[in-house]
This record gives sequence, C-alpha cells and structure tokens, in this order.
Amino acid sequence: MYEQASHAMLNEILIQLKPEIGNFRLRHFYTRLGANFYSIHSLFRLLYGERADFKEQMVSLVETLALRYMERSPSLRKSDLARERDYDWFMSQKWVGMALYCDRFAGNLQGLKAKLPYLQDLGINMLHVMPMLDCPPDHADGGYAVRDFCKIDPRYGTVEDVEELAATLKKREMLLVLDVVVNHTSNEHEWAQKARAGEKKFQDYYFTFDDREIPDAFEQALPEIFPSTAPGNFTWDEAMGKWVMTVFNQYQWDLNYRNPAVLIEMMDIILFWANKGADILRLDAVAFLWKKIGGTCQNEREAHLLLQLMKDCCQVTAPGVLFIAEAIVAPGEIAKYFGEDAINAKECEIAYNATLMSLLWDAVATKNAKLLNLGIRNLPLKLERATWLNYVRCHDDIGLGFDDSDARLAGYDPVQHRRFLLDFFTGKFPDSPARGLPFGDNPRTGDARISGSLASLVGLEAAMASGDEAAIDAAINTILLLHCTLLSFGGIPLLYYGDAIGTLNNLEYLADPYQRDDNRWMNRSYFDWTKAEKRHVKGSVEQRIFSGLKKMIALRKETPAFADFDNRQLFAVDNPNLLLFSRSNPHNSRNIVLVACNFNNAPQSFSVSALKQFGLFRQDSMMDLCTGLLLTAENEMVVLPALSCCWLSD
Ligand code: GLC
Ligand code: GLC
Repeated sequence: MYEQASHAMLNEILIQLKPEIGNFRLRHFYTRLGANFYSIHSLFRLLYGERADFKEQMVSLVETLALRYMERSPSLRKSDLARERDYDWFMSQKWVGMALYCDRFAGNLQGLKAKLPYLQDLGINMLHVMPMLDCPPDHADGGYAVRDFCKIDPRYGTVEDVEELAATLKKREMLLVLDVVVNHTSNEHEWAQKARAGEKKFQDYYFTFDDREIPDAFEQALPEIFPSTAPGNFTWDEAMGKWVMTVFNQYQWDLNYRNPAVLIEMMDIILFWANKGADILRLDAVAFLWKKIGGTCQNEREAHLLLQLMKDCCQVTAPGVLFIAEAIVAPGEIAKYFGEDAINAKECEIAYNATLMSLLWDAVATKNAKLLNLGIRNLPLKLERATWLNYVRCHDDIGLGFDDSDARLAGYDPVQHRRFLLDFFTGKFPDSPARGLPFGDNPRTGDARISGSLASLVGLEAAMASGDEAAIDAAINTILLLHCTLLSFGGIPLLYYGDAIGTLNNLEYLADPYQRDDNRWMNRSYFDWTKAEKRHVKGSVEQRIFSGLKKMIALRKETPAFADFDNRQLFAVDNPNLLLFSRSNPHNSRNIVLVACNFNNAPQSFSVSALKQFGLFRQDSMMDLCTGLLLTAENEMVVLPALSCCWLSD
C-alpha cells in the first residue's frame, strides 16, 4: 500500500543514511524496503511514535537493515531470491527436523559435522542446534542465558565453525535452525554489566526499579515460570541498588522493548545470525516480549506488533530466512503468532504445536483419543504460508496446555484430569509404567509440568528393568505411534536427538550443582554412540525404533499428501480410542491418505461406511503404506492393532 506520510519519511531517511550505504549496490534492498516500509513505519510508530527521538530511531533501524544487507554474502542473497520465487518451499513434506545439543550429541561443532551421516541415514534434513552462545558456565539455563550474542562458547567452537556447518548443510540440502534469545540476557551480558555500573542508558535496556512499588503492582497478576527455583519475577541487584525484572531465572534479565534501542539491537543480532547462514531462527519465549502491569505479561498485543516488525525487517534484509515462534501458550493464543492478518501482519512462519504435543501425551495416559480429537478439531486455523512444528518431546518440560473446555467436553474435570496426568507420568498412578518427575510444582496454584525422556515416559525404562517383553513392545509401539502421527499430521516434524534410539532418563545432572535443581536435564543426555550402534543389531530396542522411524520418514517424504496446505480432514469415529484423519494431495485431490491411529492397548475397530462417501475404502480395503499389507473391511468394520498407526492408501 502506498501511503504519503510513510513515503515522505522513507525519502527523508534515504537521504540521511551514511554515505557508504548510499554508494553501495542495493537494488534488491531498496525494492524490499519500499515494499515493506509502509508496514515497518506504521508498526514502529504504533510502538514508539510518542517519543521525541522517533525519527532518529527510525533512521537507526533502517541503517541497521542496510548495513546487514551489505554484509550478506552473494550465495545467501541468491538463496533469498530463490526462496522469494518458491515462497511455499517450507510447506513441503520433504522436511524432517531434529533438535540436538552440539556438545551432548557430538562434542563440538566440528564433531557435529562428522556426525551428519547418522542424521542423514535417519532422514533428518533440518537441524536445530540448541543455543551455543557464550553464557556464564554456572548460570546458563542450557544456553538461554546469553552473555554475548555474537560469540560461540569456545568449548563448542567459533562463529566460523557455524558458518562452515551452515555451508556443509547447504551442500547436503539440509537446513540450519539457530536460536535467538530475544526476551532476556544473562546478568553478565555487557548491557547488564553497564547497567550495574550505573549507566542509565543501559538500565533502560531492562526493567529496573528503585523500590518495590511497581514490582509489587506487576506481581499481583504475574504467574511464576520457575516457582520452585526462581520464585517471583523481580530480583534485587546489589551492585545496581535496584530491582530488575527476571521472569525466568534470577540471572536472566528481561529486555525492555518499550525502548526502541533494544528492538534495534535485537534486529541487528537476528540479522547477524541470518548472515552466518541460518535458514530458520527460533525466537525464544516470544509470548513474553511485552510487559504490562495488571496482566500476565504474555501474549500482549504489542508482543505481536514487535514480531510483525521483526518479520518485516527480516524480509527487507534476509527474506529467505524464516522464524519459528516458541510460544508455549494456550491453544487459542498460539496460532496468533503466525499473524492474524495475511497481508499486513505476518509474524512467524512456523510455531511450536504445543497443543498437539500435550494432547498426544493425554492420549498416551488415557489410552484413548477423546481429548485428542476435540483438541484437534478446535485447533485454530492458520494463515496460508504458515506451518506447525510438530513434536512430542523437546529439551523442556511438558506442560498440559490443552483447553479446559475441551477437557470438560471430553467428560473430565480439568483440574482433576491434569492431576491424573501428572500422577500418571510421574509413576504415582497405580500400574503406570511412566518414570517422569514433576517440574515447576507450584503448591500455591496446584500447577505442575512434567520432565522425563520420551522412552521413560512411555514405559520403556520400567519395561526393560522388569524384562517384560510385552511391555517393551508396547513402549516401542507407542514411540512409533506418536511419531507416525507427527509425521503425517501436517507441518514439520521435529524429533528430539535421543528418541530414535530409545534414550532413557539420565540422572547425571544430579551430580552437577548448577543443574540438579532443574530436572529438565534428565532429558538432555549425552548421546550414547555405543547404544546408537545397536541400531544395526536386528531385534534390539534401538534397531526397532530407529528402523521404524527411518522407514516412516522416507515414506513421508514421498507422500505429497503430507505437505501442509490445510489439506487435513478429521473424521468423527464412534470408537473413542481412535484418531482418524485424511490428508489429500494438494495437486491431485483423488490421491488421499487415511491416517488411522489406535491409542488403546487392545485392538480396536471402526466402521468404514461413513468413510466411503469421501472416496475411502470404496473397494473395502486399503493398503498400509508402512507395511505394504492390505487392511480389509469385514462387515464394514476394520480392525487396527493395539497402539498402532497406519497410513492407508488405495
Ligand atoms: C525457553 C527455552 C527454555 C528456557 C526458557 C527461558 O522456553 O526453551 O529452555 O528455560 O526459554 O529462556
Ligand atoms: C516457558 C516457556 C516454555 C518452557 C518453560 C520453561 O513457559 O515458554 O517453553 O517450557 O518456560 O521450562
């Protein structure tokens, strides 16, 4: 849209830019700036228009975009142009991701390069390398308490190693995902140090207060993220003689985005990593970006405006780079991080599907798909050119973030049901084989989340300890069932590094004084390469999981119906243990795959009569793509084995 005021301002800014910018070849930059400037200007004005230095800040933002564009390498610029042409590239079924810690998986960045064949053997072509930036060794929060945003922790390597990894991945047609921790810094970051030394400029980068008046006002409505280890949301800093806002750990200082300088610094950092070759940036804790007294300081409208602004700016300098929103919030709120308006308000192209994740865990515990069906039916619609990141485990705890009204519709009391799930996964419920631990227990609110590795949570640890073969089978089948659902649901599946070989809980963290109070570490093991070798031993647990996943991943990539173009149809089935949905090929609507999942530990059947009108089971049988076996209806009924998932096709 052409708008006079913003256009006039753009002209003014272009004249004011540093001479070295003016002299540079910037054709594509100017075209993109022109196309996005109306939106950038409107958003910047909404957020910062009241300030006396508004124009100065606007110039500084555009300058940042231009300087980072000048630095962008020819090959990355080429990839930007290619991705602008093929703008739906990431919606394809061909992408399959994995998240891993470079040190825990392969020692360091060079080691990681050497281990790429293992990942490729499994079929992984999108690699989320967990944060590797310089953090204080004692207070690092697993890499999320950053001391220097542009320096790699020397134990892992250097920035050059990251660039080299990015180039190697590109040659192998793999994508690199890196984190940008946008919400907070370590208290040892240079900005925090300067704030502590009394520099007003940097105190304004954070939320600092002389007394408890404003902190107390905030606290009335603020929840606690880590109630047991970091209660409250403000920390007294002795050196500064002030309170500072610390929503996560006490050593993680929340950045103040009411200050445009903070946004500009962060944009500069985002583009720095875009220029180092990241294809996708995972923006951490985005729900928390804007703080307002009287609210929970999550999902505020301004947090969305900031993300829209960041996206528009990235579009100008590095349009090939995508954003992942890490917003682990209520189902109705998550989809808003895609942006709510297709034209003016793009935010992140990809978002963690925390809703599906928690619903899948519900199905594991209840052994039925009642809540899962309801939750999927009510999953908010997404924009075009937006996709989910589907996962079952990650490095964090599992929050039971499904919708209370869905829980009621499924016939549960939400509070009691969450209590049951917590008891189930922490092994307190009678006969539960799960071996998790409660995380973030808050006696005041009764809330708690769950820690533990996938294999231990689905009962593999208990089954192996007792040598119960049937229970081992059930655990392996559950792992495969969960992944089978993720791989066909629509979106990018994101596996977690130990899960393909059945990694159990690891208790080494208890010996580390800085980790022992945070049981999320039990699911952040050092990858056991000796165990991984067993994937070649026929009949071993590792081989059964690894080869099952490998086969499904390969099949997913060959199945165009699994690309994510809002081509999923959920079927209501009379059997509450089952989840049934179809996926249709966006280029050939007659090419349909029926995904049928049984979460129960006994075989279950469903009627095909109603499905026939959708072109399914017309010949009374369909083939399971995974096994090649025919599934035939007898008296209109089809039987699915216990804890299984089939991809059925004509
Ligand atoms: C994100 C990370 C989590 C971290 C938190 C604070 O939620 O995934 O590991 O503790 O942010 O940075
Ligand atoms: C925040 C994050 C969530 C994470 C938790 C830390 O709530 O949004 O991802 O699980 O912090 O464990």
